[in-house]
Amino acid sequence: MKLQMRDIVKTYGNVIANNKVNIDLNDGEILAIVGENGAGKSTIMKILYGLEKPDSGEIFIDGKKVNFKSPIDAMKHNIGMVQQHFMLFGSMTVAENIVYNNEIKKGIFFDKKANIQRVQELSNAYGLKVDANAIVDDCPVGTQQRVEILKTLYQNASVIIFDEPSAVLTPNEVDELLNTIRKLAESGKSIILITHKLNEVMAVADRVVVMRAGEVVANLNKADTTIDEMSYLMIGRQTVDLKLRSQNVGEQILKVENLQMGSANGKKVLNGVSLEVNAGEIVGIAGVSGNGQTELIRCITGLERNYVGKVFVCGKDVSNQGVNVVRSAGLSNIPEDRYVWGSARNASLLDNFLMGEEDSEKFSKHGILKQAEIKKYAEGLIQDYSIKVDNSKQKIQELSGGNAQKVITAREIERDCPVTIACEPTRGIDIGAMEFVHERLVNKRNNNGGILLVSSELSEILKLSDRIYVMYNGKLNYEFKHGEVDERKLGQLMLGGTINE
Ligand SMILES: Nc1ncnc2c1ncn2[C@@H]1O[C@H](COP(=O)(O)OP(=O)(O)O)[C@@H](O)[C@H]1O
Ligand SMILES: [Mg+2]
Repeated sequence: MKLQMRDIVKTYGNVIANNKVNIDLNDGEILAIVGENGAGKSTIMKILYGLEKPDSGEIFIDGKKVNFKSPIDAMKHNIGMVQQHFMLFGSMTVAENIVYNNEIKKGIFFDKKANIQRVQELSNAYGLKVDANAIVDDCPVGTQQRVEILKTLYQNASVIIFDEPSAVLTPNEVDELLNTIRKLAESGKSIILITHKLNEVMAVADRVVVMRAGEVVANLNKADTTIDEMSYLMIGRQTVDLKLRSQNVGEQILKVENLQMGSANGKKVLNGVSLEVNAGEIVGIAGVSGNGQTELIRCITGLERNYVGKVFVCGKDVSNQGVNVVRSAGLSNIPEDRYVWGSARNASLLDNFLMGEEDSEKFSKHGILKQAEIKKYAEGLIQDYSIKVDNSKQKIQELSGGNAQKVITAREIERDCPVTIACEPTRGIDIGAMEFVHERLVNKRNNNGGILLVSSELSEILKLSDRIYVMYNGKLNYEFKHGEVDERKLGQLMLGGTINE
């Protein structure tokens, strides 16, 4: 089947999410759609899947104009979508989810055996391993994604749309997914893969559409393009190749000794974690989320006081003493959840930038705030970090997620203190901003700051870290120097593999 989207326009208020977008797709083709956050990728696919209605524009299937009022219409035309957030019933079984609304019946009754058999057949045909009787909530994310794919196959989709499918997967799961995508295309399905990971495009795509600010800026054959060209088109300028300059480290500024912490069910969430960060280095912690990283950072930053073990910041014992003590000992924190640590959603940007610095000489004298100084500082950061705001008195909650993240990131990196904890510092922000944040972190390191970086983005860990720890099951298992380990190996260790496999 041949699919054409012509001159699609979609606006949300003042935002033009799609501006005269054209997309073509042929049988058995893998089309990648790439672009920064906010480029309009999800919107154009939601329109194709009947989740959103375009303001104007047309869709043709095999030359005939179609009009989708809902995903049910799209499904009738054999279009399926694996969305960014899975649409599954957690308490139902894998098979029930897959056949939902299309059950095979015996008379008027649900034919359980026939349904399970059909699911098993599909699962075998495409090598998508699932246990038909497992409860979805008990399945790992990778399996849930396979359930979503099987659902589209069960509905006979011949076009399958994937919206950032690898964002939730580990590197090994990503390899499996890419294999599945190839297999689907070989069997004649057409695939649309939305991603901002350009190595995935190089690995599987036949063609690539680049979107920027709501428009298609290029339509390329994979074979004729490169990662450099695509990222140039995506962000509209050349990317910088960041390299860590080698330097000697200074004194120890963060030390964690044998942290232990239990959970409600008696399981050890932290099982003897020790680490150190010295002035002038970035130390990365790689791990699948849920292996104790969150708890470790909560202990170090003082959000959690209930643990056994010691934490020292700049030589001062701050164990079990809470956020304020830790902060004044010299630690700043870019939190995993940008609304937990010291961002007040209702407060203005100015107040948010000032937070934690109210008493510093720079911003106050005899208890009176130097408003002009504060405004200058905040506006400087807004400009440096290209934070999109109307004015500095706006509330932080009025900003998009990515921009709110930048406010906190800017404040915590630029704060004059020796140690910075950076948890997922670039999650939800686009490539341009990501590069900038990376540059600032390295700049802080080069100026003798110490950084503890926790990220599920392995490329980020590998690029920025002088040393890397692997966290698994409440323990730090391995330690590597910059350049000693690659993405594949780290991926295996993160899943509990060992070094000799
Ligand atoms: N439901 C919505 N309401 C208002 N604005 C939206 C909505 N959905 C998307 N947008 C805006 O449209 C633009 C494109 O968004 P989206 O298609 O999600 O981008 P992408 O998937 O490329 O990251 C963004 O500026 C986004 O904020
Ligand atoms: Mg999207």
